[in-house]
Amino acid sequence: MKIAVSREPAQRMPVQALVIGICKDKPLSGPATEIDGLMGGVIGRSLADGELKGEKGETAIFHVANPDSVQLAPRRVVTVGLGEADKVDAEAIRSAAGSVAKLLRDKGIKRAAVLTLGVSGEGGSPGKNASETAVLCNVEGFILSLHRYQEFKSKKDEKDLERVDLILPTGVDEAKAQQAVDRACVMAEATVLARDLAYTPGSAMTPRRLAEAAERVARETGLEVEIHDESWMESEGMGALLGVARGSSEPPRFIVLRYRSGRQGAPLLAIVGKGLTFDAGGICLKPAEGMDEMKMDKSGGAAVIAAMQGIARLKPTIDVLGVIPATENLPGGRALKPGDVLKTLSGKTIEVINTDAEGRLILADALTYASRAGANWIVDIATLTGAVVIALGNQAAAIIGNDQELIDEVVASGADVGERYWQLPAYEEYKEQYKSHIADIKNVGGRQAGTITGALIVGEFAGACKWAHLDIAGVAWHQKDLPYIPKGASGFGTRTLIRLAERLGGAGQG
Ligand code: BES
Ligand code: MN
Ligand code: ZN
Repeated sequence: MKIAVSREPAQRMPVQALVIGICKDKPLSGPATEIDGLMGGVIGRSLADGELKGEKGETAIFHVANPDSVQLAPRRVVTVGLGEADKVDAEAIRSAAGSVAKLLRDKGIKRAAVLTLGVSGEGGSPGKNASETAVLCNVEGFILSLHRYQEFKSKKDEKDLERVDLILPTGVDEAKAQQAVDRACVMAEATVLARDLAYTPGSAMTPRRLAEAAERVARETGLEVEIHDESWMESEGMGALLGVARGSSEPPRFIVLRYRSGRQGAPLLAIVGKGLTFDAGGICLKPAEGMDEMKMDKSGGAAVIAAMQGIARLKPTIDVLGVIPATENLPGGRALKPGDVLKTLSGKTIEVINTDAEGRLILADALTYASRAGANWIVDIATLTGAVVIALGNQAAAIIGNDQELIDEVVASGADVGERYWQLPAYEEYKEQYKSHIADIKNVGGRQAGTITGALIVGEFAGACKWAHLDIAGVAWHQKDLPYIPKGASGFGTRTLIRLAERLGGAGQG
């Protein structure tokens, strides 16, 4: 799909559909009024009669009668609701763009123009730099809602929107709008990459394949990449990652991507993603029901690889290290047994009480690696606990860490891109829960506060770094379609991490 910005008057766009946004309890205004005038006022009358309400996600299609005689080049006008005018924010725009994009595609429309949603007189305004943010959100909504994973369909659905022109209201700088489109494409394409990696079945996206995906990203964007194998892990002393990998005959990989800003003395952000390509639970085997979804246990690693792609393209002013420990968690003949003790890269020992609590084990070695690499900040992202799904459902990721400023930056980055994080406490007392009788710590802290103890076990390996942990188990995968997140893998976290790299480098709202 090609997305362009345009200054052409909407009535002259030779498209199959022209999209206009409408708000709740608000008459048409701006260019939409003109279009409606040429339509003989049918949209205004639908609004006045209360048939069209402007509710979020509401769409309607109006065919143009006698288009040639009324000098209206678009063949249809499609309306989409944005909700209440004074509550139109970035998220409302992404959602409206997403809802209308799916409708257009379903109806077989290939070329559409859009009176840029959120700034074309509907009354809303998504805050600072309103028009650029609106352009960005229109583009994100279109691309993210139309993504689908068809790799294994023998008959692919080929219906596609081919071109969308965003019509800019007067007063919006065209060059800045074009920049917003480019930025949105980077953000959305990275998210789509993360989704595709998470979607791919375990046997098609093994640790070796995930490493190849990282290499491909590096090749295409100029990032540095290192892929390490088992013998390297052995010589380094990554006993925790190797321990988890033992249950599988598929070899693990330790993936490192590096972005250099080129700035002397630039601080280093390390982003660490759990790359568990399939989590069967190990000897503490999971129940069969829903186990297929555990191919998404690489969602954190996928978000890191994808964010590194976006970072390479947007070039923030700090350096960024992407670290992905990748392995399967299977109950093979040599698998880790409950009761085993592993020696981590840091030297700390972990007693394995439950082999299904494997994410913290592989992250332990990865965080030690990141802190030894000189990171100023470490942010890890993982589908770590079922407990977070109980606590927050599918509405927000949990965030926990040892530095409030960093946590605030991540939460703000998420708010900038429409991803929600909810902070949980990191009280010292929780650490009692994972004391071990025979080793330094154990890998589970009991039933209480499972998301917090899981996070704090990971945090044991952050060294002296400022650290934040994102538990995305509840938001990485959705059971139903959302306005711009189709059912399945969401790519959650990718855009937050890109935005975080920008913010830590001192960049304002893009
Ligand atoms: N990958 C799972 C967590 C998960 C659950 C991800 C649901 C996505 C959706 C993780 O490795 C796991 O199995 N965690 C255990 C930890 C427990 C044994 C302490 C859990 O949450 O049950
Ligand atoms: Mn597990
Ligand atoms: Zn897992």
